[in-house]
Amino acid sequence: MGWKELELCPLHDYGCNAQQIRTSSMSFSMRGTIHYNLCQAGKLFWKTLLGFFELTDSMKIAWGITGSGDLLPETITVMKEVVNLDSRPKLYIFLSKAARQVVKWYGLSRELESLSSKIFQEVDANTTEPFYYLPGALQLRKFDFFLICPATANTVAKVVNGIADTLITNSVAQATKANVPTYILPVDQTEGKITTKLPSGQKLELEIRQTDLDNVHGLSSMKSIHILHNPSEIKAIITSTAHQSS
Ligand SMILES: Cc1cc2nc3c(=O)[nH]c(=O)nc-3n(C[C@H](O)[C@H](O)[C@H](O)COP(=O)(O)O)c2cc1C
Repeated sequence: MGWKELELCPLHDYGCNAQQIRTSSMSFSMRGTIHYNLCQAGKLFWKTLLGFFELTDSMKIAWGITGSGDLLPETITVMKEVVNLDSRPKLYIFLSKAARQVVKWYGLSRELESLSSKIFQEVDANTTEPFYYLPGALQLRKFDFFLICPATANTVAKVVNGIADTLITNSVAQATKANVPTYILPVDQTEGKITTKLPSGQKLELEIRQTDLDNVHGLSSMKSIHILHNPSEIKAIITSTAHQSS
């Protein structure tokens, strides 16, 4: 991770010191210290450059991926297109614990890694590996927007009920409190049967549950949340966000 990325660290903006970061998670004690020192050095470096790169910085998207096999290959395809858009957005990819398993089982880990060097794996609702505090960064409006694609029925159910006990659901809670635009693509949103593909490539027909449809309906009325229906809509969001900020 480069200096610029470390500048995004929200713990320092909250006024945390090395000791607090170190003790925020025992298993991260050494990494916390290294992280803190690098962040301090990175901040100094960037301040010395008079913020020039800040002016020319590209769009930053926090992209959450949850543990859904449905629409996962389609999502990766769109991600490939997105990184080549004129606005050259930087993707900060946040994987739920289940997403990591599912991405692996669908044989898409390499492809995902080729799209961004900034991939963060959920450790708990507040921290990731490598060490980072995404919900705080969203709360501090460090990203242009937050996107969850694909979103599992599980994550949608939690969000709609105000639960924030995972990295992605906590990120939604903090982003929406800060009025950061949050786009969510729930996989289970169309009534009736869907055909999904198993990791083997074999097709499987499933029936969408009414409770999942109700949850998507509830989600659509939540402040700062916008429902997407197809991963192909993401490019238009990026283009319009780029126009707004230019
Ligand atoms: C191979 C595989 C594919 C899955 N596909 C889906 C899916 O398409 N939709 C869904 O809602 N859950 C799916 N799941 C189940 C979720 O991963 C599970 O509900 C998990 O708890 C979701 O956690 P998360 O929402 O924090 O990512 C799948 C699980 C596996 C192992």
